Amino acid sequence: TELPDLVVVGSGFFGLTVAERCAADLGLKVLVLERRHHLGGNAYSEFEPETGIEVHKYGTHLFHTSNERVWEYVNRFTDFTNYQHRVFGKYQGQVYSLPMNLALINSFFGKSHTPDEARALIAEQSSEIDTKDATNLEEKAISLIGRPLYEAFIKGYTAKQWQTDPTELSADIITRLPVRYNFDNRYFNDKYEGLPVDGYTAWLERMADHPNIEVRLNTDFLSADGVADEFKGKVPIVYTGPVDEYFDNSEGRLSWRTVDLRTEILDVDDYQGTGVVNANDADVPFTRELEFKHLHPERAASYTPGRTVVVREFSRFAEEGDEPYYPINTAEDRAKLLKYRDLAAKEPMVLFGGRLGTYKYLDMHMAIAAALSMYDNKLRPHFADGAELK
Ligand code: FDA
Repeated sequence: TELPDLVVVGSGFFGLTVAERCAADLGLKVLVLERRHHLGGNAYSEFEPETGIEVHKYGTHLFHTSNERVWEYVNRFTDFTNYQHRVFGKYQGQVYSLPMNLALINSFFGKSHTPDEARALIAEQSSEIDTKDATNLEEKAISLIGRPLYEAFIKGYTAKQWQTDPTELSADIITRLPVRYNFDNRYFNDKYEGLPVDGYTAWLERMADHPNIEVRLNTDFLSADGVADEFKGKVPIVYTGPVDEYFDNSEGRLSWRTVDLRTEILDVDDYQGTGVVNANDADVPFTRELEFKHLHPERAASYTPGRTVVVREFSRFAEEGDEPYYPINTAEDRAKLLKYRDLAAKEPMVLFGGRLGTYKYLDMHMAIAAALSMYDNKLRPHFADGAELK
């Protein structure tokens, strides 16, 4: 069979951006290999058939960016709603407005504060520990926001996220814990924000919808039956899978956290009144509850009345075979990553990208921006001008 001009491993935002640019801008024949049964990587979503509600299969995905080029690029494939993300947090039977702001401080301390009064209160409460003396995450957090807010909004949540007591976690995990001394509760402060009008999958499919792009699903590049051998050394490859797996974990496995998502369809019209509510109590086993219908209020007429989809997130360390979600990035991980980067730099005709290929948490807009840079700086010069692919 005829070889493509370029093989892209992984059909997430990184891989599809590279594939789309090379196919549409340079007219190259691109083969995208995807080991899952669907394209789109972690941004993939499905409309739950009983309720008509779009469910993000790998956790909530909110699109936001301040990058003009990315915004222009993504608008070629989808329109966006005017959704603005807001998050709430439950603690001891009360619901608070996050991120930490004046509304939260007022309701938590049961009294109204001016911005200056709130600032003085938090300064006083955080004076218990000097930030430079903090030896663990708990002390660091107390030194930044004081003990009462730490115990309510950071301690239980962090312990569940990491499955580790915050006194055992490194102080480096947090650098700041921003408190807003106003009532602003928008979660993101980017210039552009919204959700794809027809859903994530429609957006991702439009990126791949080009006669020069072939997507082959259920195809693991690293599978034992030798898919890699068909292409390695013969055509340029952009690999967006896990970098450690590519090298057969020769330097050891990089550590990740994963999230178990448990979905329930409930016989209520509205379960929690908003899309995301954090569970701050230590004795509630999940970290968040997601109610997807609230991400698209404009679709209300298409939803089955009296029903809703709720997803609960349970965070834990990823074992072999789990979906890797958040890099843990210990000192050991960083040492391994440096060795993998050396190996990657020597791998002929293979470029590593995306969140798995670089072991970095990337928001969607960052994955797209990084893919556009790889296209500009490496792929286009190689294919259009014959530059060496490195
Ligand atoms: P992605 O993981 O999407 O794609 C990689 C693809 O490669 C996968 O489809 C995988 O199956 C495939 N693959 C791997 N190995 C392979 C192999 N050997 N052979 C073939 N295929 C292989 N961002 C944001 O902007 N707003 C948000 O709200 C969120 N929310 C969010 C929640 C959670 C829980 C997570 C984990 C992440 C987010 N994100 C996010 C980040 C977002 O998911 C991320 O930016 C994109 O997934 C990055 O796209 P990539 O293409 O890099 O990876």
